[in-house]
Amino acid sequence: MEEPVPEGNPFHTGKARGDFLAGARETLTANDVGDFVKPGRYQYPHQWNWDAALVAMGLAHFDEERARKEVRSLLQGQWLDGMIPHVVYHNGSSDYFPGPDFWQIEQSVAAPHGVRTSGLVQPPLLATCVRRMHRRARDRQASLAFIQEIYPRLLNWHRWLHRARDPEGTGLVAIVHPWESGTDNAARFVQPLMQVTPSQVPAYQRRDSAHVAAEERPQHADYERFVYLIDRFRQWAYEPEIIYQRSPFLVQDTLFNAITYQAHEDLIALADEIGEPTAELERWRVRLRRAFNAKLWDEEEGLYFAFDARHHQLVRENGVATFLALYAGLADKEQAEVLVGAHLENPEEYGPDANSRFRVPSQAKNNYFYEPRRYWRGPVWILVNWMVMQGLERYGYQALAENVRRDSLALMADGGFFEYYDPRDGSPAGASDFSWSAALALEMLEPLPLSRPA
Ligand code: GLC
Repeated sequence: MEEPVPEGNPFHTGKARGDFLAGARETLTANDVGDFVKPGRYQYPHQWNWDAALVAMGLAHFDEERARKEVRSLLQGQWLDGMIPHVVYHNGSSDYFPGPDFWQIEQSVAAPHGVRTSGLVQPPLLATCVRRMHRRARDRQASLAFIQEIYPRLLNWHRWLHRARDPEGTGLVAIVHPWESGTDNAARFVQPLMQVTPSQVPAYQRRDSAHVAAEERPQHADYERFVYLIDRFRQWAYEPEIIYQRSPFLVQDTLFNAITYQAHEDLIALADEIGEPTAELERWRVRLRRAFNAKLWDEEEGLYFAFDARHHQLVRENGVATFLALYAGLADKEQAEVLVGAHLENPEEYGPDANSRFRVPSQAKNNYFYEPRRYWRGPVWILVNWMVMQGLERYGYQALAENVRRDSLALMADGGFFEYYDPRDGSPAGASDFSWSAALALEMLEPLPLSRPA
């Protein structure tokens, strides 16, 4: 007999659902190169920070030991001062730009020994994904031992974020490069980035358009600045203090801080589970919450914006990062109502209409920079949907959360596990066989057991 089809998913039969789940597992398995799972089959040949966290969470659905290995593997790249870099190059060079040589991390006293990495970070999703893996784990003992093993490293990572990226104690952590946001070319970085004046940019050869159409990737002017900033950091030997003081790009980002906040909460839960003290984490958490609302909330627009800390101004671009305040539980009830009622549901911004059927575009459709197929300027991303969906559930918008989930599953069921999708007709774009889409398909279809601790 066929298993019953859970309500609200796009699969007409239990078999269709089963095939889809098998396809998601198969995507992760096929991208597994031994030490790590590649973010995409063709486009991304190395291990990325938040991709690895998501991939581990996906692997935990069917192979808990392999999932833990993914986390250990990412942690091999951790710097001696606690930083977890945004790329780890386990298998040496490839035709990907930037490759390991570009970073010159050996300039830094904190660079790890025997493994090559980038010199930037990415949103700290790791503690959140590890906590979810732990809640799902069937082998409770192995999972607990794993938490004990990696907890000090996670704590060092969170400490690094506050020490290196908030030395003034503002409560918010700063990013120094758009790549650190994980949403490389989002509109909220245009203004801060255009104030960076690149000079003597070292020669480089982009490779990112080899497998993906150029009009779906960032533009040349952005790339010049991406490379220029890294060149500055290399020259400063990646000294966090100098970078914080002198980087021409310094942004207190909505998405990065919301993810940090949620990760603090998750790390606190893990600490409780293994009897570690939490006062330090609590302090960061409380301060971040206060600063997030005091500084990033714009009452007039009813949106959260990123703050350009170098030029002391809010960047008033309406993008999906604003809804991460729901994901992290940072908004109050009234703020949530405005975010959802006036923006998320508004067909001129994020709500579906006759020309644009799918939730949730990464940029408001009426934003000047909106482009439905260009990377973080408009396409639907499964990771963003997953976070928005959790935010909606958290604030009691069950029906809307269900719509976001259904759209996400429909996009993947019809188009395959792609990197992103055109919100107008749902056509897939960017890299194919994309690991985190597959991992999150598993998360969306196989909910966490309710009764597990942490
Ligand atoms: C791109 C994305 C980033 C991701 C990486 C690997 O750089 O913007 O978020 O981690 O690709 O998938």
